[in-house]
Amino acid sequence: MKAMTTTQIKRANRDWRRRTDRSLSVALVSLSNPFNVGSIYRTAAVLGLEAVYLVGATPGPGEAKVHKTGLGTEHGVETVGVAALAEVPGRRVAVELADGAVPMHEFAFAAGDVLVLGSEGHGLSPSSLAACDAAVYVPQPGKVASLNVAMAATLAMYEARRQEWAAQ
Ligand SMILES: C[S@@+](CC[C@H](N)C(=O)[O-])C[C@H]1O[C@@H](n2cnc3c(N)ncnc32)[C@H](O)[C@@H]1O
Repeated sequence: MKAMTTTQIKRANRDWRRRTDRSLSVALVSLSNPFNVGSIYRTAAVLGLEAVYLVGATPGPGEAKVHKTGLGTEHGVETVGVAALAEVPGRRVAVELADGAVPMHEFAFAAGDVLVLGSEGHGLSPSSLAACDAAVYVPQPGKVASLNVAMAATLAMYEARRQEWAAQ
């Protein structure tokens, strides 16, 4: 086994792009750490997301620290700034350790879903959760309280795409 060449990666990416049709977006509610935002942009760009909604004071493209982890991908995905989560169109799926949330792998993601993530310090507020149509969480068999928000976003984006590909 050896690593793919750049040409092989480009060809594989093209093939996966043809198999990827569902609109999928993320909404970041009041994230404070620009490095997390940049990481989320990078995964969003890799997995072909439609848009990144920046809700409230979440830092966005143009900030040097977002660029540090985004590496330019922050300009390759549409960014939409909104004042409130309720302005984000589509089925809003909270990615949160919320009461009543469903383990992510048991949830049926669909075209048009928007994955909603909360702040590093406080998570999603009760009003943000109320603005969501469903909630999912990553089960934690370890003894840790929560994931880093960029990691939780990555797992959710991948699970949504995985389900789309598995259904083909
Ligand atoms: C570090 S966590 C927030 C923790 C916060 N101190 C609290 O107690 O709510 C930041 C964000 O990551 C996401 N997150 C972290 N762990 C998660 C999990 N196991 N399942 C789903 N989302 C998770 C959520 O969106 C959460 O709002």
